[in-house]
Amino acid sequence: METIAEEIKQLAKEKDVVILAHYYVDGEVQAIADYVGDSYYLSKIATEVKQKNILFCGVTFMGESAKILNPEKKVIMADELADCPMAHMVDLDKIEEVRKQYKDVAVVCYVNSTAEIKAKSDVCVTSSNAIRVVKALENKRIFFIPDNNLGRYVASKVPEKEFIFHDGFCHVHTSITKEQVEAAKKLYPASLVLAHPECTEDVLALADFIGSTSEIIDYATRSENENFIICTEMGVFYELMQKNPQKKFYSVGHRQFCPNMKRITLEKVKNALLTMQPELVLDEEIRKKSFLPLSKMLELAR
Ligand code: 13P
Ligand code: SF4
Repeated sequence: METIAEEIKQLAKEKDVVILAHYYVDGEVQAIADYVGDSYYLSKIATEVKQKNILFCGVTFMGESAKILNPEKKVIMADELADCPMAHMVDLDKIEEVRKQYKDVAVVCYVNSTAEIKAKSDVCVTSSNAIRVVKALENKRIFFIPDNNLGRYVASKVPEKEFIFHDGFCHVHTSITKEQVEAAKKLYPASLVLAHPECTEDVLALADFIGSTSEIIDYATRSENENFIICTEMGVFYELMQKNPQKKFYSVGHRQFCPNMKRITLEKVKNALLTMQPELVLDEEIRKKSFLPLSKMLELAR
């Protein structure tokens, strides 16, 4: 009898579907995906795949990015309720207000945002390219939305610009505390601390390396060190251990868990392939407007 993973592979082939997954989904889902990566890699690879259909194992904003960049492809979400709360933490009025106040501002929008917000922004960024993209902008004044921690981290690396911050946050990353990291360092003193820039400033101050999910995995893989304390969502442990079976990875607490990413299961992936639903549909006007900041990101990040 075929396993569910084999059934998924077969169905995807028959229906001309490429499966994209983020590093935060369960390991067994990452294992059946054609491509797994961070938000930047997934939006880039979505523009390069040959298949007519994309099945996204991630949260809504990730599927939206794939659709914005590839309007001719059908984008199906493994779970349409898997949504990132941070994506809704800024509204259009706030952008209008800042634009009215500062005529010279560039609205820099973290991809963890809705298509409507992207459509009103000047450029998008992900955690792996934000510093490069912000540096490349001509504007000196930056309104960074929605994530406060990533915005402050980028500002610390681009001191020549003036930043206006917003108050968005990720509940998973902000649940990691300085005290937890210090306790983990005491328990595992030979470890390096690797953190995602959505973590708070005091956690980032304890980090030996700060980067996106892919960058954290690459850093640990290249490093000669054998022990790492990981300050991001626990889904990355799957790839970290696949690539580095001899190394040790430690979490800092019990809340490094994104409930939205964990909604995605193999059963839902199989069902989405059988029904080719739920399809991600975007208003065409919003799609066209949000294409500009996203494609500008791809161009500036290159
Ligand atoms: P990455 O782009 O680093 O994969 O991060 C996405 C995300 O949602 C972090 O919480
Ligand atoms: Fe959103 Fe945080 Fe989950 Fe990333 S980990 S998808 S920012 S809630």
